[in-house]
Amino acid sequence: MTRQTVQQSQREQLAQQRGCVLWFTGFSGAGKTTLACEVERRLHRAGVLTGRLDGDIVRDGLNNDLGFSPEARAENIRRVTEVAHIMTLSGLVVLVAAISPYEKDREAARARIGADRFKLLHIATSLDVCESRDPKGLYQRARAGEVADFTGISAPYEIPAAPDMRISTDEDLDTTADGVMQFLQAEGIVPVST
Ligand code: ADX
Repeated sequence: MTRQTVQQSQREQLAQQRGCVLWFTGFSGAGKTTLACEVERRLHRAGVLTGRLDGDIVRDGLNNDLGFSPEARAENIRRVTEVAHIMTLSGLVVLVAAISPYEKDREAARARIGADRFKLLHIATSLDVCESRDPKGLYQRARAGEVADFTGISAPYEIPAAPDMRISTDEDLDTTADGVMQFLQAEGIVPVST
């Protein structure tokens, strides 16, 4: 008797959803984590099974051997992509929040996950705004030369050429999250509530 392994399509059938990745990119302090958490709350309320991978958390554990050189960031993003990919195979909607400053690393993630299951959301908060917020005091330390290779100060951030959604955070969190949810409904990721 041959025993079939459980397929992605079967998991998705059971969960009544399609595995995909919502990838939030932007400067440190742009609001990636805050927005990803709020969107996840709304997805959860809408009955969507989710998972979340956050740069700060992943760098605390899985990737605690990596720094911030271009090569280390590429490896960080590669590992995050691999974990996110496995989670999509389980049928989850995965929210990734990572600076991911290099276009080639983001596009490698898109290629690995599959373009039809990958949405790149650029949180376009300006560097000036992020620096004035400075929630972790890192911009100040980077300006003082105490943190090397800091994105926006002493390391590059390549603005995504063709994100699936460009998000300005001029508006309040609820309004911004509403906009993302409308986008996800239009993309068929969230059921349209009746
Ligand atoms: S990424 O560039 O490799 O995608 P990631 O999102 O995982 O970065 O981690 C960014 C977080 O690491 C920031 O939110 C900040 O708290 C911390 N950090 C520490 N050093 C740096 C640095 N040199 N550049 C950017 N972020 C840093």
